[in-house]
Amino acid sequence: HIYGDKRLNSRGPNIDIAAEWQPFSADIQRWLNHQWQGGPIINGQRLTTGTEIQVKAPYDHRISAGQVHFADSSCVEQAIAAAQGGVQSWQQTPVGVRTQALRRLGDLLEDHLAELVALCHQEAGKTIQDGIDEVREAVDFCRYYSLQADQLFSTPLERTIADGSHCRMIRNGRGVFVCISPWNFPLAIFLGQITAALAAGNTVIAKPAEQTSLIANRAIELMLEAGIPGSAIQLLPGDGATVGAPLTSDPRIAGVAFTGSTETARLINRALAGRNAEPVPLIAETGGQNAMIIDSTSLPEQVVKDAVQSAFVSAGQRCSALRVLCVQSDIADRIIDLLQGAMAELKTGNPCLHSTDVGPVIDTEAQQGLLSYIDQMKSHAKLLAQTPLHANADQGTFVPPTAFEIDSIERLGREQFGPIMHLVRYKARDLDRLIDQINHCGYGLTLGIHSRNEGTAAHIESRARVGNTYINRNQVGATVGVQPFGGQGLSGTGPKAGGPHYLLRFTQLATAATPK
Ligand code: NAD
Ligand code: ALA
Repeated sequence: HIYGDKRLNSRGPNIDIAAEWQPFSADIQRWLNHQWQGGPIINGQRLTTGTEIQVKAPYDHRISAGQVHFADSSCVEQAIAAAQGGVQSWQQTPVGVRTQALRRLGDLLEDHLAELVALCHQEAGKTIQDGIDEVREAVDFCRYYSLQADQLFSTPLERTIADGSHCRMIRNGRGVFVCISPWNFPLAIFLGQITAALAAGNTVIAKPAEQTSLIANRAIELMLEAGIPGSAIQLLPGDGATVGAPLTSDPRIAGVAFTGSTETARLINRALAGRNAEPVPLIAETGGQNAMIIDSTSLPEQVVKDAVQSAFVSAGQRCSALRVLCVQSDIADRIIDLLQGAMAELKTGNPCLHSTDVGPVIDTEAQQGLLSYIDQMKSHAKLLAQTPLHANADQGTFVPPTAFEIDSIERLGREQFGPIMHLVRYKARDLDRLIDQINHCGYGLTLGIHSRNEGTAAHIESRARVGNTYINRNQVGATVGVQPFGGQGLSGTGPKAGGPHYLLRFTQLATAATPK
């Protein structure tokens, strides 16, 4: 259940639309006229600066979502000083008090569900279902990391060895953690990083993606309302060069949690390495070039349903999204036929309407890049299907869901972060070569497998180098705590978000040994 006095259930039953849709929908509508305000938040106070940005709804640029002030270099300095000043008292705050505030944040997010979904429409162009999923995942992170922190950090581990000597092991936060997040999960990933760092005993400087600063601002306001002290969390909206780069090259920071493109992860790695300071951890969760392999025993209708969802949900703007569907030649024509039918049924449009399947992409830059890729591909690949855009699409940043057939997976270049899917045929005898080609592209995030032959599925799973494999289902929407999420190679460093080892990377272990 998602509304009324009921709490969001992680991956629980879907909405009973008839009974619960109307009041929820009416509440969202009321928020659509709201103008949100944002800016740097330092020591609990929101600041104004000389750079005010007007935020436009990606689905219709005539609609304003509000205004945000971007941080300047003086805000960066103030935030670092504030975060440093807060370290000692936050580390001395009992774990149970820290996690109680994070649980309260989870409850507050649920209480503000309609507002947050509306804000996700207006600033990030998310559909209603994506907005609900976004809030639900953020809530899951609050509760999961709280539980993990209670279990891991409340009591020191004690060991006594044969001679009677004793060792006590204590985990502490590392200091000031910088959390840098992308726009495609502006609440879930943004809060996932921050809640983990806070639960583990660090103070945080949060640098959200510039495109989704208002959502970040609202999340931090709720965090303060939940009881996280202003000295523990600082918010710096702004662009990567002005805010992200100086933060990651500052010798006073004790670690970075980053989610975004592989290129930016490399820049951050270099900035950290170039500091005249102690080496610190970088958790980087980055891009993907994700495949789904289907063999001739798979169920074509199921394959197409899962492929279309994996490629086009969130307008393809998920790192987990399907980019290349690899189809055994024997059933390729049948799959293409069904795919064309399914893509003709997709509806692009206003994300606030329940009938919309595919909303806009995030901004004009993303739109132009994707449209230009589609144009180039039309000259050297076979266009299989393209969903027509709705009327009024030119008011926003829409890209039509598009599928191309390519002759080899090696033709794929860099990640195209939008609603574009490729299809490649393979012969049964070439399966291992196909898996090796997928491995060779260097990314290793998600992999879909469709086969009713358990041996084949197990073989593909064991040979592929990816972080998250999904068998006979779609390959997006990992559930916090159940499917820890994160890739290998160019896709990230780990540890996986929403998994049992994530919090440990935000801490260091100290031991105290005594004789018998
Ligand atoms: P991006 O790398 O452009 O930006 C991510 C963040 O880094 C933003 O906040 C940006 O301002 C900041 N940044 C930019 N330059 C910086 C610098 N020099 N120093 C410090 N910070 C800097 O990525 P994006 O376009 O926001 O997000 C899309 C990308 O994120 C895709 O590649 C997608 O696959 C990836 N992603 C990965 C995961 C995952 O879990 N693996 C999840 C979501 C998105
Ligand atoms: N965690 C997100 C998903 O699984 C990226 O789709």
